[in-house]
Amino acid sequence: MDFQHVEADLAKTLITEEELHAKLQELARQIETDYEGKDLLLVGVLRGAVMVMADLARALNRHIEMDWMAVSSYGSGTVSSGVVRILKDLDSDLSGRNVLIVEDIIDSGLTLSWLRGNLESRGAASVEICTMLRKPDALKVEVDVKYCGFDIPNEFVIGYGLDYAEQYRNLRGIGVLAPHVYE
Ligand code: XMP
Ligand code: MG
Repeated sequence: MDFQHVEADLAKTLITEEELHAKLQELARQIETDYEGKDLLLVGVLRGAVMVMADLARALNRHIEMDWMAVSSYGSGTVSSGVVRILKDLDSDLSGRNVLIVEDIIDSGLTLSWLRGNLESRGAASVEICTMLRKPDALKVEVDVKYCGFDIPNEFVIGYGLDYAEQYRNLRGIGVLAPHVYE
């Protein structure tokens, strides 16, 4: 593997670092307005949401708390089954809390629709979703997403937290992997 030239593995950049940060500022202003006078607990879904969480949290000019969950959806390969297992649970008690789930991407929507139900059942006052990316053509279940950065085509994307075989999470923008990487 060529450890130096990460960018050479990209077929194209879909969203630049600047576009991501501008969008997060926009979303942060909406969130500040919507949660005015209320507590706010950001729940990041490991590992993909690490970058979105770090940047969204710093874009918000207000008090917040952050907690993390790791989930894995059973299923073959890259196809999500909707059966979700909790690998790492929250440390926070959710009763009466206003929870905002922070995600990198919604593909089929199965993971998020399960996760929302799970968090609601713990007595949260509200549970909403903020995702950087959404693939409208891949959706299998309706998910009510309050804050969405970008709708993207149904292609496998990497960067800004998203990986291919655990690589590329540290790319600053979001792009499509060049076929020579996986062929
Ligand atoms: P759902 O349940 O919405 O699953 O199908 C969403 C999860 O699937 C992963 N995923 C991706 N990861 N590039 C990635 O690196 C992609 O294009 C992609 N599409 C889905 C991701 O872990 C997400 O949380
Ligand atoms: Mg994820």
